[in-house]
Amino acid sequence: MQASPKRFPHRWALETFLVCWLSMCAASSLLSCPTSCTCNTSSLEVDCSGRGLTAIPPDIPQDTRTLLLLNNRLSSLPGASFSNLSSLHRLDLSNNFLDQLPSQLFGDLVNLTEIRLRNNSIRSLDRDFLQGLPLLRRLDLSLNGLSQLPPGLFDDLPMLHWLSLRSNRLQSLERITFEPLSNLENIQLGDNPWECDCKLRDFKHWMEWFSYRGGKIDELQCTLPKELRGRDIRMVPVEMFNYCSQLEDENIAGPGDRPTPPCTKGIPAPLEPEPSPDCPQKQRYRPASVRRAIGTVIIAGVVCGVVCIMMVVAAAYGCIYASLMAKYHRELKKRQPLMGDTEGEQEEQRQISSVA
Ligand SMILES: *[C@@H]1O[C@H](CO)[C@@H](O)[C@H](O)[C@H]1NC(C)=O
Ligand SMILES: *[C@@H]1O[C@H](CO)[C@@H](O)[C@H](O)[C@H]1NC(C)=O
Ligand SMILES: *[C@@H]1O[C@H](CO)[C@@H](O)[C@H](O)[C@H]1NC(C)=O
Ligand SMILES: *[C@@H]1O[C@H](CO)[C@@H](O)[C@H](O)[C@H]1NC(C)=O
Repeated sequence: MQASPKRFPHRWALETFLVCWLSMCAASSLLSCPTSCTCNTSSLEVDCSGRGLTAIPPDIPQDTRTLLLLNNRLSSLPGASFSNLSSLHRLDLSNNFLDQLPSQLFGDLVNLTEIRLRNNSIRSLDRDFLQGLPLLRRLDLSLNGLSQLPPGLFDDLPMLHWLSLRSNRLQSLERITFEPLSNLENIQLGDNPWECDCKLRDFKHWMEWFSYRGGKIDELQCTLPKELRGRDIRMVPVEMFNYCSQLEDENIAGPGDRPTPPCTKGIPAPLEPEPSPDCPQKQRYRPASVRRAIGTVIIAGVVCGVVCIMMVVAAAYGCIYASLMAKYHRELKKRQPLMGDTEGEQEEQRQISSVA
């Protein structure tokens, strides 16, 4: 009973100290949050979205895991924009006006698992743009102005599961660009002006292989040629691309001795592409499945031919047999009424002998 009043001042001091320390902590965490953002210290999320920003705030906490910069007015980013944010897992730059992006923009962000660049003005990407992102799982490049992808762009993304290229200006893609994506599960390709000609044939094979492996693709609707407009290239029979192999063989046989551009030579009307000098390079690859398909078609043709000939022979034989039988029956009928009529029989014998 006597001890407590003595201890009271100590307890008071301790409590004051604790309250001060906590408020200082809160103040310091508030201080470390950029003025134009809100920071969640438990989820380590920094939300700078919709603030009309034209540059990335300089004082983003170093331990930030999620950085939201969507719905701003960013049009360009300096090379070292995220250099200190090595803990960053998710980065959202959607709905800005980003155009040219520096090649090593994400160079130090080894922990990034998701990048969203939806709805910007990106027209081209550097081959090294996605280097050094070993954990990246989701990449959204939809609603941009991409007209082609450099081969090698996805070479270093072993963990990529989900990729969107929807709503760009892509006309063609190379199979070799996508082959390194061994963990890809979902790809979005819709709403692009696809040209379903020889250049896209190998990518069609990659899509078929990817679907077979269980991968999901939204759609790839042809815009050109006119005859295939609106059709998904996966539904276009592979035989429609057979002429590509012919072109390939012709090109291997003798590219020099043909005056016309090799790519326009001997193309059936429905798939005639624009004459293009780089066609031969892109038609080298002919996977085993295509060779097997061609073999199957040839064997099926031979078997059908043999069956057809046999059917014609059988039909002809049947016709001849039927006509012979009919003649025989006619003669039999002619004779029957004369049976037992000796006069008639004699007459007939007379006729026969006169003929003889
Ligand atoms: C901070 O993040 C946590 C975990 O995600 C969440 O439960 C909490 O509501 C967030 N706080 C604020 C102020 O948004
Ligand atoms: C960020 O990194 C640069 C060097 O890359 C360094 O000079 C600077 O102090 C760092 N800033 C912070 C806030 O850690
Ligand atoms: C990446 O994250 C892991 C675990 O989340 C962490 O141990 C590591 O330090 C991080 N790397 C960097 C460069 O911050
Ligand atoms: C794309 O971004 C612009 C500018 O931020 C915005 O006005 C527009 O609504 C966005 N469009 C879509 C489809 O998100």
